[in-house]
Amino acid sequence: MVWGIGRASYRIGTAGLAGGTVPAMDPKLIARYESSSGAAAYRHKYERSWVRRLSNRRELGIVDRALARAGARGTLLDCPCGAGRLTPTLLRHADRVICADISQAMVDEARDALGPLAEGDAVSFLTAPASELPLEDGAVDTAICHRLIHHMAAPEERAAVFREMARVAARRLVISFSDDSTWKAKSQKRRGVDRRRSALMPEQLFAEAAVHGLTPLGEPQRLNGFHSLVAIAVFDATGTP
Ligand SMILES: C[S@@+](CC[C@H](N)C(=O)[O-])C[C@H]1O[C@@H](n2cnc3c(N)ncnc32)[C@H](O)[C@@H]1O
Repeated sequence: MVWGIGRASYRIGTAGLAGGTVPAMDPKLIARYESSSGAAAYRHKYERSWVRRLSNRRELGIVDRALARAGARGTLLDCPCGAGRLTPTLLRHADRVICADISQAMVDEARDALGPLAEGDAVSFLTAPASELPLEDGAVDTAICHRLIHHMAAPEERAAVFREMARVAARRLVISFSDDSTWKAKSQKRRGVDRRRSALMPEQLFAEAAVHGLTPLGEPQRLNGFHSLVAIAVFDATGTP
């Protein structure tokens, strides 16, 4: 797998929200994603131990199955792309992948991590917020938004992402969220664990998506089965809000 060789760190920008009108994600997290050290750290996060490598492999398998369920084809958008971890998996379904992230440091890491893949015509890069993408309506067949909205506590912030993803995706949206209905979520709540994520019940996610004409295709799939917080949902994006 191409992903995994090199440095890693994160960084994000406060400018990521449309016109600054929407409440933003945790600024400390944004700053981390936007720093070159943070982006380099993120790039290697999933290689640090055998547990992480195993869980990364399972996660990519679930993303792969979600894309198959979506029938993704043609051009796909990966936003946020982070350090390009999902790109090789997306290319199994697509002719072309647009990797977008609000953090220039992450985009640089992705370009470097993807090596020869990044040099061909199949992969292109954009530095832009998920809520304001410089793409035409219906520019991609499927948009995948993986590991972003669980950082967004404000419904308005998630709405801005749903709206933009529904606009640029001609057919499908694949989106991950922190699923509040899982055994692990309930157990953490009982124990008063500070989860530092914004969890949603699947019904709430579906209701927020429906406002933007997005219809769920089946039930969300959990990333790591029983011991999991994050799940992936597939939406039909052909409807109009
Ligand atoms: C947890 S990482 C996930 C990256 C990738 N999807 C993965 O699974 O490896 C979160 C990413 O979201 C990016 N990000 C944060 N806020 C964003 C926004 N409003 N628009 C686009 N990207 C954003 C960060 O820069 C970071 O790369």
